[in-house]
Amino acid sequence: MTFPVDRPRRLRRSGALRRLVSETRLSPADFILPMFVKEGISDAAPIGSMPGVFQHTLDSLRKAAHEAVEAGVGGIILFGIPAVKDERGSGADDPTGIVQKALRDLTADLGDSAVLMTDLCLDEFTSHGHCGLLTASGEVDNDSTLERYASIAVAQAAAGSQVIAPSGMMDGQVRAIREALDGAGHLNIPIMGYSAKYASAFYGPFRDAAECAPQFGDRAAYQQDPANARESLREVLLDLDEGADIVMVKPAGAYLDVVRRVRDAVEVPVAAYQVSGEYAMIEAAAANGWIDRDRAIMESLVSIKRAGADLTLTYWATEVARKLG
Ligand code: PBG
Repeated sequence: MTFPVDRPRRLRRSGALRRLVSETRLSPADFILPMFVKEGISDAAPIGSMPGVFQHTLDSLRKAAHEAVEAGVGGIILFGIPAVKDERGSGADDPTGIVQKALRDLTADLGDSAVLMTDLCLDEFTSHGHCGLLTASGEVDNDSTLERYASIAVAQAAAGSQVIAPSGMMDGQVRAIREALDGAGHLNIPIMGYSAKYASAFYGPFRDAAECAPQFGDRAAYQQDPANARESLREVLLDLDEGADIVMVKPAGAYLDVVRRVRDAVEVPVAAYQVSGEYAMIEAAAANGWIDRDRAIMESLVSIKRAGADLTLTYWATEVARKLG
Protein backbone atom coordinates (compact mmCIF):
# COMPACT_ATOMS: atom_id res chain seq x y z
CA MET A 1 0.00 0.00 0.00
CA THR A 2 1.41 3.40 -0.95
CA PHE A 3 0.12 6.50 0.71
CA PRO A 4 -0.50 9.83 -1.04
CA VAL A 5 2.19 12.48 -1.02
CA ASP A 6 -0.15 15.19 -2.24
CA ARG A 7 -2.96 15.74 0.22
CA PRO A 8 -5.32 18.49 -0.98
CA ARG A 9 -7.52 17.71 2.03
CA ARG A 10 -4.98 19.48 4.31
CA LEU A 11 -6.35 22.84 3.18
CA ARG A 12 -9.96 21.77 3.74
CA ARG A 13 -9.69 20.72 7.36
CA SER A 14 -11.26 23.74 9.01
CA GLY A 15 -13.58 26.55 8.12
CA ALA A 16 -10.80 29.05 8.78
CA LEU A 17 -8.46 27.29 6.34
CA ARG A 18 -11.17 27.01 3.70
CA ARG A 19 -11.95 30.70 4.02
CA LEU A 20 -8.27 31.59 3.79
CA VAL A 21 -7.71 29.75 0.53
CA SER A 22 -11.06 30.53 -1.07
CA GLU A 23 -10.52 31.50 -4.72
CA THR A 24 -13.83 33.26 -5.21
CA ARG A 25 -15.49 35.76 -2.91
CA LEU A 26 -18.89 37.32 -3.37
CA SER A 27 -19.25 41.01 -2.77
CA PRO A 28 -22.50 43.01 -2.46
CA ALA A 29 -21.07 45.67 -4.78
CA ASP A 30 -21.10 43.15 -7.65
CA PHE A 31 -24.84 42.57 -7.40
CA ILE A 32 -27.54 44.23 -9.46
CA LEU A 33 -31.11 43.83 -8.25
CA PRO A 34 -33.82 43.59 -10.96
CA MET A 35 -37.01 45.37 -9.79
CA PHE A 36 -40.52 45.54 -11.26
CA VAL A 37 -42.68 48.64 -11.03
CA LYS A 38 -46.28 48.59 -12.20
CA GLU A 39 -48.45 51.51 -13.16
CA GLY A 40 -51.86 51.97 -11.58
CA ILE A 41 -51.73 49.60 -8.60
CA SER A 42 -52.11 50.75 -5.04
CA ASP A 43 -50.32 47.91 -3.24
CA ALA A 44 -47.24 45.90 -4.07
CA ALA A 45 -48.36 42.62 -5.65
CA PRO A 46 -46.53 39.35 -4.92
CA ILE A 47 -45.49 37.34 -7.98
CA GLY A 48 -46.77 33.78 -7.57
CA SER A 49 -43.96 32.07 -9.44
CA MET A 50 -41.27 34.14 -7.71
CA PRO A 51 -41.90 34.01 -3.95
CA GLY A 52 -40.36 37.05 -2.28
CA VAL A 53 -40.41 39.18 -5.47
CA PHE A 54 -43.04 41.89 -6.04
CA GLN A 55 -44.55 44.09 -8.67
CA HIS A 56 -43.98 47.40 -6.92
CA THR A 57 -45.92 50.60 -6.67
CA LEU A 58 -43.83 53.75 -6.96
CA ASP A 59 -43.83 53.96 -3.16
CA SER A 60 -42.95 50.36 -2.41
CA LEU A 61 -40.25 50.52 -5.08
CA ARG A 62 -38.57 53.39 -3.26
CA LYS A 63 -38.63 51.48 0.00
CA ALA A 64 -37.24 48.28 -1.51
CA ALA A 65 -34.58 50.20 -3.45
CA HIS A 66 -33.56 51.90 -0.24
CA GLU A 67 -33.20 48.50 1.47
CA ALA A 68 -31.03 47.23 -1.39
CA VAL A 69 -28.77 50.25 -1.13
CA GLU A 70 -28.53 49.92 2.66
CA ALA A 71 -27.39 46.34 2.15
CA GLY A 72 -24.64 47.52 -0.20
CA VAL A 73 -26.07 46.25 -3.50
CA GLY A 74 -24.10 47.81 -6.37
CA GLY A 75 -26.96 48.60 -8.70
CA ILE A 76 -30.63 48.18 -9.45
CA ILE A 77 -32.24 47.64 -12.84
CA LEU A 78 -35.82 48.68 -13.46
CA PHE A 79 -38.52 46.92 -15.46
CA GLY A 80 -41.82 48.72 -15.99
CA ILE A 81 -45.31 47.35 -16.50
CA PRO A 82 -47.62 49.97 -18.01
CA ALA A 83 -51.36 50.21 -17.28
CA VAL A 84 -52.11 50.22 -21.01
CA LYS A 85 -50.28 48.30 -23.73
CA ASP A 86 -50.47 48.93 -27.46
CA GLU A 87 -48.89 47.70 -30.68
CA ARG A 88 -45.96 50.14 -30.51
CA GLY A 89 -45.34 50.01 -26.79
CA SER A 90 -46.05 53.72 -26.44
CA GLY A 91 -45.60 53.68 -22.67
CA ALA A 92 -41.92 52.85 -23.02
CA ASP A 93 -40.76 56.29 -24.18
CA ASP A 94 -43.56 58.39 -22.71
CA PRO A 95 -41.87 60.98 -20.43
CA THR A 96 -44.67 60.31 -17.93
CA GLY A 97 -44.46 56.51 -18.40
CA ILE A 98 -43.98 54.33 -15.34
CA VAL A 99 -40.25 53.74 -15.76
CA GLN A 100 -39.53 57.42 -16.27
CA LYS A 101 -41.58 58.27 -13.16
CA ALA A 102 -39.73 55.69 -11.11
CA LEU A 103 -36.40 56.99 -12.39
CA ARG A 104 -37.17 60.51 -11.28
CA ASP A 105 -38.11 59.29 -7.79
CA LEU A 106 -35.11 57.05 -7.39
CA THR A 107 -32.56 59.51 -8.75
CA ALA A 108 -33.32 61.78 -5.84
CA ASP A 109 -33.30 58.90 -3.33
CA LEU A 110 -30.22 56.98 -4.37
CA GLY A 111 -27.70 59.71 -5.09
CA ASP A 112 -24.30 58.10 -5.63
CA SER A 113 -24.94 55.09 -3.40
CA ALA A 114 -25.94 52.63 -6.14
CA VAL A 115 -26.13 52.66 -9.93
CA LEU A 116 -29.61 53.18 -11.31
CA MET A 117 -30.08 51.16 -14.50
CA THR A 118 -32.95 50.50 -16.88
CA ASP A 119 -33.84 47.52 -18.99
CA LEU A 120 -34.69 48.75 -22.47
CA CYS A 121 -37.15 46.58 -24.35
CA LEU A 122 -40.64 46.69 -25.77
CA ASP A 123 -42.16 43.40 -24.66
CA GLU A 124 -43.50 44.75 -21.36
CA PHE A 125 -45.15 47.59 -23.26
CA THR A 126 -46.58 45.92 -26.36
CA SER A 127 -50.04 44.36 -26.54
CA HIS A 128 -48.57 41.39 -28.48
CA GLY A 129 -45.72 40.84 -26.00
CA HIS A 130 -42.92 40.79 -28.56
CA CYS A 131 -39.72 42.75 -28.11
CA GLY A 132 -40.21 44.85 -31.24
CA LEU A 133 -42.63 46.21 -33.79
CA LEU A 134 -44.43 43.71 -35.98
CA THR A 135 -44.68 43.57 -39.74
CA ALA A 136 -48.07 42.95 -41.36
CA SER A 137 -47.26 39.25 -41.41
CA GLY A 138 -46.44 39.19 -37.68
CA GLU A 139 -42.66 39.09 -37.79
CA VAL A 140 -40.60 41.25 -35.48
CA ASP A 141 -39.16 43.98 -37.70
CA ASN A 142 -35.57 44.76 -36.80
CA ASP A 143 -34.98 48.21 -38.21
CA SER A 144 -38.22 49.97 -37.32
CA THR A 145 -37.75 48.58 -33.82
CA LEU A 146 -34.34 50.26 -33.61
CA GLU A 147 -36.03 53.63 -34.00
CA ARG A 148 -38.28 52.83 -31.06
CA TYR A 149 -35.29 51.71 -28.96
CA ALA A 150 -33.44 54.93 -29.78
CA SER A 151 -36.37 56.96 -28.55
CA ILE A 152 -36.77 54.88 -25.37
CA ALA A 153 -33.07 55.25 -24.57
CA VAL A 154 -33.31 59.02 -24.75
CA ALA A 155 -36.46 59.06 -22.59
CA GLN A 156 -34.81 56.87 -19.96
CA ALA A 157 -31.60 58.89 -19.89
CA ALA A 158 -33.52 62.15 -19.68
CA ALA A 159 -35.42 60.79 -16.66
CA GLY A 160 -32.22 59.79 -14.85
CA SER A 161 -31.17 56.31 -15.94
CA GLN A 162 -27.44 55.96 -15.37
CA VAL A 163 -26.95 52.82 -17.49
CA ILE A 164 -29.13 51.73 -20.41
CA ALA A 165 -29.46 47.97 -20.90
CA PRO A 166 -31.07 46.91 -24.19
CA SER A 167 -32.46 43.36 -23.94
CA GLY A 168 -34.39 42.95 -27.19
CA MET A 169 -31.71 41.20 -29.29
CA MET A 170 -32.30 43.34 -32.37
CA ASP A 171 -29.29 43.55 -34.69
CA GLY A 172 -27.60 46.92 -34.40
CA GLN A 173 -29.43 47.92 -31.22
CA VAL A 174 -26.34 49.08 -29.37
CA ARG A 175 -25.21 51.37 -32.19
CA ALA A 176 -28.70 52.81 -32.64
CA ILE A 177 -28.93 53.58 -28.93
CA ARG A 178 -25.38 54.97 -28.70
CA GLU A 179 -26.06 57.35 -31.57
CA ALA A 180 -29.36 58.45 -30.10
CA LEU A 181 -27.89 59.03 -26.65
CA ASP A 182 -24.95 60.96 -28.06
CA GLY A 183 -27.24 63.01 -30.28
CA ALA A 184 -29.29 64.00 -27.25
CA GLY A 185 -26.20 64.97 -25.25
CA HIS A 186 -26.05 61.83 -23.08
CA LEU A 187 -22.46 61.11 -24.05
CA ASN A 188 -21.56 59.73 -20.66
CA ILE A 189 -24.38 57.25 -20.18
CA PRO A 190 -22.96 53.72 -20.53
CA ILE A 191 -24.68 50.88 -22.36
CA MET A 192 -24.84 47.41 -20.85
CA GLY A 193 -25.74 45.11 -23.73
CA TYR A 194 -27.73 41.97 -23.16
CA SER A 195 -25.28 40.71 -25.74
CA ALA A 196 -25.56 36.93 -25.51
CA LYS A 197 -29.19 36.38 -24.66
CA TYR A 198 -30.65 32.97 -25.25
CA ALA A 199 -34.21 31.95 -26.12
CA SER A 200 -34.64 30.29 -22.74
CA ALA A 201 -37.35 28.40 -20.90
CA PHE A 202 -35.85 29.85 -17.71
CA TYR A 203 -37.58 33.18 -18.35
CA GLY A 204 -40.98 31.63 -17.56
CA PRO A 205 -41.66 33.32 -14.21
CA PHE A 206 -40.44 36.70 -15.51
CA ARG A 207 -43.27 36.68 -18.00
CA ASP A 208 -45.69 36.60 -15.04
CA ALA A 209 -43.70 39.29 -13.28
CA ALA A 210 -43.59 41.64 -16.26
CA GLU A 211 -46.84 40.43 -17.85
CA CYS A 212 -45.07 40.05 -21.17
CA ALA A 213 -45.64 36.53 -22.47
CA PRO A 214 -45.77 36.70 -26.28
CA GLN A 215 -49.40 36.46 -27.43
CA PHE A 216 -48.34 34.26 -30.35
CA GLY A 217 -45.16 32.44 -31.30
CA ASP A 218 -41.95 32.71 -29.31
CA ARG A 219 -38.72 34.70 -29.32
CA ALA A 220 -36.55 32.12 -31.08
CA ALA A 221 -36.27 34.28 -34.22
CA TYR A 222 -34.38 36.97 -32.30
CA GLN A 223 -32.90 35.38 -29.17
CA GLN A 224 -30.07 32.85 -29.47
CA ASP A 225 -30.33 29.10 -29.84
CA PRO A 226 -29.20 27.37 -26.60
CA ALA A 227 -27.12 25.00 -28.73
CA ASN A 228 -24.73 27.76 -29.81
CA ALA A 229 -21.75 29.10 -27.89
CA ARG A 230 -19.49 30.55 -30.60
CA GLU A 231 -22.41 32.67 -31.72
CA SER A 232 -22.27 34.41 -28.35
CA LEU A 233 -18.78 35.64 -29.07
CA ARG A 234 -19.98 37.04 -32.36
CA GLU A 235 -22.80 38.88 -30.58
CA VAL A 236 -20.48 40.17 -27.85
CA LEU A 237 -17.86 41.42 -30.31
CA LEU A 238 -20.52 43.13 -32.41
CA ASP A 239 -21.90 44.86 -29.32
CA LEU A 240 -18.43 46.07 -28.38
CA ASP A 241 -17.87 47.33 -31.89
CA GLU A 242 -21.18 49.19 -31.67
CA GLY A 243 -20.16 50.84 -28.42
CA ALA A 244 -21.25 48.62 -25.53
CA ASP A 245 -19.49 49.40 -22.24
CA ILE A 246 -20.56 46.24 -20.37
CA VAL A 247 -21.65 42.95 -21.95
CA MET A 248 -24.03 40.41 -20.48
CA VAL A 249 -24.69 36.71 -20.74
CA LYS A 250 -28.22 35.56 -19.95
CA PRO A 251 -29.32 33.23 -18.39
CA ALA A 252 -26.37 32.49 -16.11
CA GLY A 253 -26.59 29.02 -14.56
CA ALA A 254 -27.08 26.94 -17.67
CA TYR A 255 -24.60 29.09 -19.65
CA LEU A 256 -21.53 29.22 -17.40
CA ASP A 257 -19.37 28.01 -20.28
CA VAL A 258 -20.47 31.06 -22.24
CA VAL A 259 -19.70 33.35 -19.30
CA ARG A 260 -16.18 31.90 -19.18
CA ARG A 261 -15.61 32.20 -22.92
CA VAL A 262 -16.79 35.79 -22.96
CA ARG A 263 -14.70 36.68 -19.90
CA ASP A 264 -11.61 35.28 -21.63
CA ALA A 265 -12.33 37.07 -24.90
CA VAL A 266 -12.96 40.68 -23.83
CA GLU A 267 -11.56 43.34 -21.51
CA VAL A 268 -14.81 45.07 -20.54
CA PRO A 269 -16.87 44.11 -17.47
CA VAL A 270 -18.95 40.98 -18.00
CA ALA A 271 -22.36 40.66 -16.36
CA ALA A 272 -24.42 37.49 -15.97
CA TYR A 273 -28.17 37.42 -15.31
CA GLN A 274 -29.41 34.77 -12.91
CA VAL A 275 -32.92 34.75 -14.32
CA SER A 276 -36.39 34.21 -12.90
CA GLY A 277 -36.45 30.46 -13.59
CA GLU A 278 -33.14 29.96 -11.82
CA TYR A 279 -34.61 31.78 -8.84
CA ALA A 280 -37.90 29.90 -8.95
CA MET A 281 -36.27 26.48 -9.18
CA ILE A 282 -34.27 26.94 -6.00
CA GLU A 283 -37.16 28.57 -4.14
CA ALA A 284 -39.57 25.81 -5.17
CA ALA A 285 -37.22 22.94 -4.32
CA ALA A 286 -36.41 24.56 -0.97
CA ALA A 287 -40.10 25.12 -0.19
CA ASN A 288 -40.57 21.39 -0.66
CA GLY A 289 -37.69 20.65 1.68
CA TRP A 290 -35.71 19.08 -1.14
CA ILE A 291 -32.62 21.29 -0.99
CA ASP A 292 -30.97 23.59 1.54
CA ARG A 293 -32.13 26.98 0.29
CA ASP A 294 -29.34 29.17 1.64
CA ARG A 295 -26.54 26.88 0.56
CA ALA A 296 -28.04 26.44 -2.90
CA ILE A 297 -28.35 30.22 -3.36
CA MET A 298 -24.75 30.82 -2.32
CA GLU A 299 -23.46 27.97 -4.45
CA SER A 300 -25.33 29.23 -7.51
CA LEU A 301 -23.90 32.73 -7.06
CA VAL A 302 -20.34 31.69 -6.32
CA SER A 303 -20.41 29.48 -9.42
CA ILE A 304 -21.47 32.41 -11.62
CA LYS A 305 -18.60 34.46 -10.26
CA ARG A 306 -16.13 31.57 -10.58
CA ALA A 307 -17.16 31.22 -14.24
CA GLY A 308 -15.98 34.80 -14.76
CA ALA A 309 -18.86 37.19 -14.17
CA ASP A 310 -17.80 40.54 -12.73
CA LEU A 311 -21.40 41.57 -12.12
CA THR A 312 -24.39 39.39 -11.33
CA LEU A 313 -28.01 40.32 -11.74
CA THR A 314 -29.95 38.36 -9.13
CA TYR A 315 -33.32 38.60 -7.42
CA TRP A 316 -31.56 37.59 -4.19
CA ALA A 317 -29.25 40.63 -4.29
CA THR A 318 -30.54 42.34 -1.14
CA GLU A 319 -30.80 39.19 0.94
CA VAL A 320 -27.36 37.91 0.01
CA ALA A 321 -25.76 41.34 0.37
CA ARG A 322 -27.09 41.50 3.93
CA LYS A 323 -25.71 38.06 4.67
CA LEU A 324 -22.29 39.02 3.34
CA GLY A 325 -22.38 42.06 5.59
C1 PBG B 1 -37.02 41.09 -22.14
C2 PBG B 1 -36.47 40.46 -20.90
C3 PBG B 1 -36.76 39.18 -20.42
C4 PBG B 1 -36.02 39.03 -19.24
C5 PBG B 1 -35.32 40.21 -19.04
N1 PBG B 1 -35.60 41.07 -20.09
C6 PBG B 1 -37.72 38.17 -20.89
C7 PBG B 1 -37.59 37.59 -22.22
O1 PBG B 1 -36.66 37.83 -22.98
O2 PBG B 1 -38.50 36.83 -22.57
C8 PBG B 1 -36.01 37.81 -18.40
C9 PBG B 1 -35.48 37.96 -17.03
C10 PBG B 1 -35.78 36.83 -16.13
O3 PBG B 1 -36.28 35.76 -16.53
O4 PBG B 1 -35.49 36.97 -14.93
N2 PBG B 1 -37.36 42.43 -21.91
